[in-house]
Formats: sequence, structure tokens, C-alpha cells
Amino acid sequence: MKNKVSVLVGLQWGDEGKGKIVDMLSKDFDVVARYQGGANAGHTIIIDGKKTVLHLIPSGIFTKNIICVIGNGTVIDPKALIEEIDLLTKDGVDLSGRLYISKDAHIILPYHKIIDAINESKNDKIGTTKKGIGPTYFDKYARRGIKFSDFEDENVLKDKIKKNLAYLISIFPESEELKALSDTGLFNELKEQYEDIKQYFVQTHYLLNNMISEGKNILLEGAQGALLDVDFGTYPYITSSSPTSGGACTGTGIPPTVINGVIGIVKAYTTRVGEGPFPTELFDDTGKEIARIGVEFGATTGRPRRCGWLDLVALKYAVIINGVTEIALTKSDVLDTFKEIKLCTDYELGGDVINTFPSNPFVLQNVKPVYKTFKGWNKSFNESSKYEDLHVEFKEYVEFIENYVGVKIRYISTGPARKDIIIK
Ligand code: IMP
Repeated sequence: MKNKVSVLVGLQWGDEGKGKIVDMLSKDFDVVARYQGGANAGHTIIIDGKKTVLHLIPSGIFTKNIICVIGNGTVIDPKALIEEIDLLTKDGVDLSGRLYISKDAHIILPYHKIIDAINESKNDKIGTTKKGIGPTYFDKYARRGIKFSDFEDENVLKDKIKKNLAYLISIFPESEELKALSDTGLFNELKEQYEDIKQYFVQTHYLLNNMISEGKNILLEGAQGALLDVDFGTYPYITSSSPTSGGACTGTGIPPTVINGVIGIVKAYTTRVGEGPFPTELFDDTGKEIARIGVEFGATTGRPRRCGWLDLVALKYAVIINGVTEIALTKSDVLDTFKEIKLCTDYELGGDVINTFPSNPFVLQNVKPVYKTFKGWNKSFNESSKYEDLHVEFKEYVEFIENYVGVKIRYISTGPARKDIIIK
């Protein structure tokens, strides 16, 4: 049998519950690799009642013998990485020979976080996590970014830091915070951090492709979600990377010809943090109730998440652009007590009914959701439930989603713990 090379993607605006599903699937894989984003992500895993939130290291790290890779498409804040390594080491998670990071990943420097905050205060607010993600990708594409491989020639690295800092001060002359930085100070701090973590850096594209040749199974873990993708998201209200499955190739060096599955993660309702259009957003008590039961607060920033019904127009769009082959439906238990549950099947726009997702956010903000209402199942399920035994109302909801998007729902997560999962 051919080895499995699968991509796991969020199909909404992030926070779909990917961490738990990666943790669950890890036993079938030898390697889990992150391919984009940085410490803006927050992947929550609960094992034996203990909750851990990972921002950078793939959620597969809790499965023994799994190798975890942070690919070239990510952007890494060394401080956040060291904190996460320390947290895992303290918890007894052995990382030696299990964590590899791409030398080609770009480094988030302190000035990137300062610029993230300046951009948020000066331009139209995006509601970023202020982790310096956008400004680091901005430097990457402007061809002045700094990679971990720059440590191979420290003089070049020092020179790059010096030029970048001078350039930034010239474009943001009013920033006292930028002026307070010195290039030697930045270099020394970075060098000290690098000494702590340098053993993890390799050319991960060779490592991953060698493992594929050896018949190993690889899971490529996306962060954020399709609707935050730099190309396919609600631009400019997006993150600055490619969470969609295509990003898995450029973000790891794994070619598209070897990928043979795309697992899409979708929450039974929708949430969004930060600014930007959200057609099914609820401003009433139902929205508040979803937020309360679902404990919808950002895992990275603690911000309350905006909540609403599941939007099938957006979901189908995400399924198409990612080539999703199977779906994991998460947090269905949050809806267990609702009398009525709605699914958005179409949008009304200027007197027309459409079922495509507008790429312009200023058009998207004007659509009105058209809903199909389902009777609530009013029952909770547990790990011993079999899909066949579930309530008819629940199955109707699940099967309507499957038929609408044309992809089967294979996993249903019915609670936060590892064991709360129904495999269909
Ligand atoms: P940035 O990624 O920090 O630049 O933020 C850009 C947008 O993406 C903001 O709306 C953030 O709230 C959102 N975002 C970034 N990371 C996540 C995530 O992991 N979950 C949900 N939203 C996110």
C-alpha cells in the first residue's frame, strides 16, 4: 500500500479544533509537519484532563515516536519557540530526535511585532494577533527577510539586521520603540536564543522527502483556516500565509504529486476573531449562548470570538479550493441543547440568491444568509456512541452538510477530550 501523505486544513476562520484532530490522527502517521503561520496559532490539546496550548510545535508531539517538523513556510519567533520547548520538556515530552525545524523558516524579530502594532493603529484594523506575522511575511516577499540559515554567515546576518532596522526607522520615524532598538543588541539577543535551539535546524525538505521515499506516513498540519488564506480568504482581513492545502507544498517542499488526502476540519458552527465580514454572525442571545457553551475565546490572545451558524456556502468554497477528501466535524456537542439549529445554504445579494462565496469582502459584508432550520437533537453523545445509534435529528444535520458539500464527514468530535470522538 502507498504511504499516506495527507494535509489537514481548517475550513473556516481558524479555531476549528484542529489540534485535537491532529493529536487523534497522529497514531497513523510517522511525521507531523507544520507548513505556515507562526505563534499566531493556538492549538489546544486535552489529554487526561490536562490542557496544553501549542502555538508552533505540531500537535502530534504528544504521540510517542512521532517526528515533528516546522517547515520553511512558517515564521518563527525564537522566544516563543524556546518557551514552548521549555513547556513541553517540563511536562516530560522528549524532543530529542523528534523535532526538526527548517533552516529556511523566516525569523520574527522584535521590530516585526512593533510594526504589527503600528500597522494596526494606523491602517484599517485587521485585528491581528500582534505576533509580528504580517510584517515578517512582508519582509520575506520584499526579499529582505532573515532566515535561520543566515546564521551560516554571521557577518551577512549582522549586515541584514543593520540594514533592515535602519530602513524601518526611516519609514516609521515617529516610532520611539524602533529607535530604542540597536542592531548589535538585536543580533546578540538572537544569537543567544539561537544557541539554545540550533540543534533543531536542518533542511527539512530533504528530511521529509527522504521519509516519503522510505514509505513513512506524513501529516501536514495547517494553522488558521481557508477563509484567512492570503489568496482565498476575505482579503485584506486575512493572515499573511497560505493555510489552504496548496500552501502545504510550498511550505514544506513536499511535491503535490505525493499528497493523497486532504482532511478538512469544520466546527458545527462558525467563529471568527479579528475584523472582517462574517455573513452568519449572530448578535443575539443564541450567539452569546454558542460562545458561552463553546468557551469561544482565542487560544493565543484570549479575545472573545464572534459566533454564528455554520455557513455552507463558505464551507463548499473551502472544500473546493482545498480538494478536501474527508471532513472532521468538531464541537457538535456545543449545539446539543439548542431547540433549533440553522445552516446557511445561500446568500441573498441585491435581490438575487447566490451560492458562491464573493471574493470581495465589501460585497460579502452585504450578503444576507438564507437558512434551513433543523430541529435540535437535544441529547448529548459520548465516546461509546456509534454513528448508527445517534439521534435522527443529528444524523439529518450531518448528512445535509455532507450532501451539500459533496464530501463525507468521517470524524465527529463530541467533546474536548481525546476520547470524545465518533468515527463514521
Ligand atoms: P495575524 O495572523 O496575527 O496577522 O492576524 C490576521 C488575522 O488572522 C486576524 O483576524 C487574526 O485574528 C486571525 N488569526 C490569526 N491566527 C489565528 C488563529 O490561529 N485562529 C483564528 N484566527 C487567527
